[in-house]
Amino acid sequence: MTFVGTFSAMRTGIAAGVMLLAASAGGIAWAGSVSVPADQLIETRQSGQDVVYGLISTMKAAVESKGDVKGFADGAGAMSRWFANFASLFPPGTETGHGTKVKPEAFSDAAGFAKAAADASAAAKALSDTAKTGDQAAFAEKFKALGGTCGACHKAYKEKT
Ligand code: HEC
Repeated sequence: MTFVGTFSAMRTGIAAGVMLLAASAGGIAWAGSVSVPADQLIETRQSGQDVVYGLISTMKAAVESKGDVKGFADGAGAMSRWFANFASLFPPGTETGHGTKVKPEAFSDAAGFAKAAADASAAAKALSDTAKTGDQAAFAEKFKALGGTCGACHKAYKEKT
Protein backbone atom coordinates (compact mmCIF):
# COMPACT_ATOMS: atom_id res chain seq x y z
CA MET A 1 0.00 0.00 0.00
CA THR A 2 1.39 3.31 -0.97
CA PHE A 3 1.00 6.06 1.56
CA VAL A 4 -0.20 9.15 -0.18
CA GLY A 5 -0.03 12.61 1.28
CA THR A 6 -1.71 15.43 -0.52
CA PHE A 7 -1.23 19.11 -0.64
CA SER A 8 -3.39 21.84 -1.95
CA ALA A 9 -2.27 23.77 -4.99
CA MET A 10 0.09 25.92 -2.87
CA ARG A 11 -1.87 29.11 -2.99
CA THR A 12 -3.74 29.03 0.27
CA GLY A 13 -0.95 27.42 2.25
CA ILE A 14 -1.03 24.72 4.83
CA ALA A 15 -0.76 27.18 7.69
CA ALA A 16 -4.19 28.51 6.89
CA GLY A 17 -5.51 25.11 7.83
CA VAL A 18 -7.80 24.93 4.87
CA MET A 19 -7.72 21.20 4.29
CA LEU A 20 -10.81 19.13 4.61
CA LEU A 21 -9.73 15.71 5.63
CA ALA A 22 -11.37 12.89 3.77
CA ALA A 23 -10.07 9.40 4.31
CA SER A 24 -9.76 7.18 1.28
CA ALA A 25 -8.25 3.77 0.70
CA GLY A 26 -4.48 3.94 0.93
CA GLY A 27 -4.19 7.66 1.22
CA ILE A 28 -5.42 10.98 2.41
CA ALA A 29 -7.20 13.45 0.18
CA TRP A 30 -8.27 17.01 0.70
CA ALA A 31 -10.92 18.82 -1.20
CA GLY A 32 -9.61 20.80 -4.15
CA SER A 33 -6.16 19.28 -3.94
CA VAL A 34 -3.83 17.17 -6.01
CA SER A 35 -2.28 13.98 -4.71
CA VAL A 36 1.45 13.59 -4.30
CA PRO A 37 3.13 10.63 -2.59
CA ALA A 38 4.51 11.78 0.78
CA ASP A 39 8.01 10.50 0.01
CA GLN A 40 8.09 12.51 -3.20
CA LEU A 41 7.08 15.66 -1.38
CA ILE A 42 9.77 15.11 1.25
CA GLU A 43 12.35 14.43 -1.47
CA THR A 44 11.31 17.65 -3.20
CA ARG A 45 11.84 19.81 -0.12
CA GLN A 46 15.14 18.10 0.73
CA SER A 47 16.60 18.35 -2.76
CA GLY A 48 15.35 21.94 -3.04
CA GLN A 49 17.14 22.81 0.19
CA ASP A 50 20.31 21.22 -1.15
CA VAL A 51 20.04 23.42 -4.25
CA VAL A 52 19.54 26.42 -1.95
CA TYR A 53 22.64 25.40 -0.01
CA GLY A 54 24.69 25.13 -3.21
CA LEU A 55 23.69 28.63 -4.20
CA ILE A 56 24.37 29.97 -0.72
CA SER A 57 27.87 28.45 -0.83
CA THR A 58 28.64 30.15 -4.13
CA MET A 59 27.37 33.45 -2.77
CA LYS A 60 29.46 33.05 0.37
CA ALA A 61 32.60 32.55 -1.71
CA ALA A 62 31.80 35.72 -3.67
CA VAL A 63 31.21 37.69 -0.46
CA GLU A 64 34.51 36.50 1.01
CA SER A 65 36.51 37.25 -2.12
CA LYS A 66 34.61 40.50 -2.70
CA GLY A 67 33.65 39.24 -6.13
CA ASP A 68 30.94 40.49 -8.46
CA VAL A 69 27.43 40.01 -7.06
CA LYS A 70 25.24 41.11 -9.96
CA GLY A 71 25.03 37.54 -11.22
CA PHE A 72 23.18 36.47 -8.07
CA ALA A 73 20.09 38.58 -8.72
CA ASP A 74 18.20 35.77 -10.48
CA GLY A 75 19.25 33.02 -8.08
CA ALA A 76 18.32 35.04 -5.03
CA GLY A 77 15.00 35.92 -6.68
CA ALA A 78 14.29 32.24 -7.30
CA MET A 79 15.17 31.49 -3.68
CA SER A 80 12.64 34.09 -2.60
CA ARG A 81 9.97 32.36 -4.67
CA TRP A 82 11.01 28.96 -3.30
CA PHE A 83 10.60 30.08 0.30
CA ALA A 84 7.31 31.79 -0.50
CA ASN A 85 5.85 28.32 -1.12
CA PHE A 86 8.11 26.28 1.14
CA ALA A 87 5.63 25.74 3.98
CA SER A 88 3.14 24.13 1.59
CA LEU A 89 5.60 21.26 1.14
CA PHE A 90 4.89 20.24 4.75
CA PRO A 91 1.27 19.07 4.82
CA PRO A 92 0.00 16.71 7.53
CA GLY A 93 1.11 13.21 6.61
CA THR A 94 4.71 14.24 5.91
CA GLU A 95 5.90 14.41 9.54
CA THR A 96 7.96 11.23 9.15
CA GLY A 97 9.51 9.05 6.49
CA HIS A 98 12.10 9.43 3.74
CA GLY A 99 14.67 10.51 6.31
CA THR A 100 12.92 13.79 6.98
CA LYS A 101 14.61 16.07 9.49
CA VAL A 102 11.57 18.22 10.13
CA LYS A 103 10.60 18.62 13.80
CA PRO A 104 7.00 18.05 14.97
CA GLU A 105 6.90 21.78 15.83
CA ALA A 106 6.62 22.65 12.11
CA PHE A 107 3.19 21.00 12.24
CA SER A 108 2.05 21.92 15.74
CA ASP A 109 3.14 25.53 15.13
CA ALA A 110 2.37 25.73 11.42
CA ALA A 111 1.84 29.50 11.58
CA GLY A 112 5.28 30.03 13.13
CA PHE A 113 6.82 27.78 10.51
CA ALA A 114 5.08 29.67 7.70
CA LYS A 115 6.29 32.96 9.19
CA ALA A 116 9.88 31.65 9.26
CA ALA A 117 9.59 30.73 5.58
CA ALA A 118 8.09 34.14 4.75
CA ASP A 119 11.00 35.83 6.55
CA ALA A 120 13.47 33.87 4.41
CA SER A 121 11.52 34.77 1.28
CA ALA A 122 11.62 38.48 2.13
CA ALA A 123 15.34 38.34 2.97
CA ALA A 124 16.10 36.60 -0.34
CA LYS A 125 14.07 39.22 -2.21
CA ALA A 126 16.07 41.99 -0.52
CA LEU A 127 19.26 40.15 -1.47
CA SER A 128 18.12 39.91 -5.09
CA ASP A 129 17.30 43.62 -5.23
CA THR A 130 20.69 44.48 -3.74
CA ALA A 131 22.51 42.16 -6.16
CA LYS A 132 21.09 44.16 -9.06
CA THR A 133 22.81 47.30 -7.77
CA GLY A 134 26.18 45.53 -7.72
CA ASP A 135 26.90 47.01 -4.27
CA GLN A 136 29.25 44.45 -2.76
CA ALA A 137 29.11 45.69 0.84
CA ALA A 138 25.31 45.97 0.86
CA PHE A 139 25.08 42.49 -0.65
CA ALA A 140 27.27 41.10 2.14
CA GLU A 141 24.94 42.64 4.71
CA LYS A 142 21.77 41.25 3.12
CA PHE A 143 23.47 37.89 2.72
CA LYS A 144 24.13 37.79 6.44
CA ALA A 145 20.50 38.66 7.14
CA LEU A 146 19.32 35.84 4.88
CA GLY A 147 21.63 33.43 6.67
CA GLY A 148 20.02 34.46 9.92
CA THR A 149 16.63 33.34 8.63
CA CYS A 150 18.03 29.91 7.70
CA GLY A 151 19.41 29.46 11.19
CA ALA A 152 16.28 30.72 12.93
CA CYS A 153 14.05 28.25 11.13
CA HIS A 154 16.42 25.33 11.53
CA LYS A 155 16.77 25.96 15.25
CA ALA A 156 13.02 25.84 15.80
CA TYR A 157 11.85 23.40 13.16
CA LYS A 158 14.67 21.15 11.94
CA GLU A 159 16.46 18.32 13.73
CA LYS A 160 20.21 18.72 13.99
CA THR A 161 22.11 16.63 11.47
C1 HEC B 1 11.03 27.92 7.12
C2 HEC B 1 12.04 27.06 7.59
C3 HEC B 1 13.36 26.94 6.89
C4 HEC B 1 14.13 27.92 6.32
C5 HEC B 1 13.85 29.41 6.25
C6 HEC B 1 15.30 27.27 5.80
N1 HEC B 1 15.24 25.92 6.04
FE1 HEC B 1 16.61 24.55 5.48
N2 HEC B 1 15.37 23.06 6.10
C7 HEC B 1 14.19 23.25 6.79
C8 HEC B 1 13.61 21.96 7.12
C9 HEC B 1 12.32 21.74 7.88
C10 HEC B 1 14.47 21.00 6.60
C11 HEC B 1 14.29 19.48 6.66
C12 HEC B 1 13.48 19.03 5.46
C13 HEC B 1 13.20 17.54 5.48
O1 HEC B 1 14.13 16.76 5.78
O2 HEC B 1 12.05 17.16 5.20
C14 HEC B 1 15.57 21.73 5.97
C15 HEC B 1 16.66 21.12 5.34
C16 HEC B 1 17.76 21.79 4.87
C17 HEC B 1 18.92 21.14 4.32
C18 HEC B 1 19.15 19.65 4.22
C19 HEC B 1 18.47 19.08 2.99
C20 HEC B 1 18.66 17.56 2.91
O3 HEC B 1 19.43 17.09 2.08
O4 HEC B 1 18.02 16.84 3.69
C21 HEC B 1 19.80 22.14 3.94
C22 HEC B 1 21.17 21.97 3.31
C23 HEC B 1 19.15 23.40 4.25
N3 HEC B 1 17.91 23.15 4.81
C24 HEC B 1 19.70 24.65 4.01
C25 HEC B 1 19.04 25.86 4.22
C26 HEC B 1 19.59 27.16 3.90
C27 HEC B 1 20.99 27.41 3.33
C28 HEC B 1 18.64 28.08 4.22
C29 HEC B 1 18.65 29.56 4.07
C30 HEC B 1 18.99 30.13 2.80
C31 HEC B 1 17.50 27.34 4.75
N4 HEC B 1 17.79 26.01 4.75
C32 HEC B 1 16.34 27.93 5.19
C33 HEC B 1 13.63 24.43 7.12
C34 HEC B 1 14.07 25.68 6.69
